[in-house]
Amino acid sequence: MNGQKPIIIGHRGAAGEAPENTLASFALALEQGAQGLELDVHITKDGQIVVCHDHTLDRTTNGSGLICEQAWEDIQRLDAGAWFADAFRGERVPLLSEVFELVPAGILINVEVKHAYEGRMEQALLAFLRESGRINDVVISSFDHKCICRIKQAEPSAKVGLLYAANLVDHAAYAKQIGVDVFSLHPHYHSIDKGDVDGAAAAGLAVYPYTVNHAEDFQHMIAIGVSGIITDFPGRLRDLLK
Ligand code: G3P
Ligand code: MG
Repeated sequence: MNGQKPIIIGHRGAAGEAPENTLASFALALEQGAQGLELDVHITKDGQIVVCHDHTLDRTTNGSGLICEQAWEDIQRLDAGAWFADAFRGERVPLLSEVFELVPAGILINVEVKHAYEGRMEQALLAFLRESGRINDVVISSFDHKCICRIKQAEPSAKVGLLYAANLVDHAAYAKQIGVDVFSLHPHYHSIDKGDVDGAAAAGLAVYPYTVNHAEDFQHMIAIGVSGIITDFPGRLRDLLK
């Protein structure tokens, strides 16, 4: 991993320039050269996997309330673009399946599980990924490491990643101790240095820091040898890597 260019992973698509976690945002990230997309998932009352960061609809749509208490039929009518800019009025909360239809095979899709929903998310997500035939393109990550372990145990072919925000332990060593084969570490970019990245590489782990948006931070992440960079501005990173 060290010495290679990191891959560009669009955070919630291209969340700096389009309404996060919408099809417009994912399309823009791909246009800007993203080789991967990060997105966040929740489950509706009727078991549909939708792409949204928050548990609630309030911040990024013209609806309100918990996603898990509402049916897909109602959520699909909401506007998820106008809050960001008028030009995006009409964007919707996408289903995970709609993102897969938009995104070509071979693009890394980093599905961040925000909540396990008492196991319902794991079941629904694995059923969807098996059916999609694209499980190899996907890395499932979460701050809920117990959920990640259950997913890996239920589906050994799934690639799983550990999200973390602070440098509390040696995460490469920790990843080797949790009882499942971890594919990647997803640290907050402030939490890692070259020693951490070297340690991860020696342990065979990819490192995908989030959320890196500025030139000096891109340069630092490139210098310490991360495998990919999760950014709200895929175009900025593409230009810098040219
Ligand atoms: O997956 C990286 C990053 O998205 C984690 O934090 O809050 O932006 O989902 P958040
Ligand atoms: Mg996320």
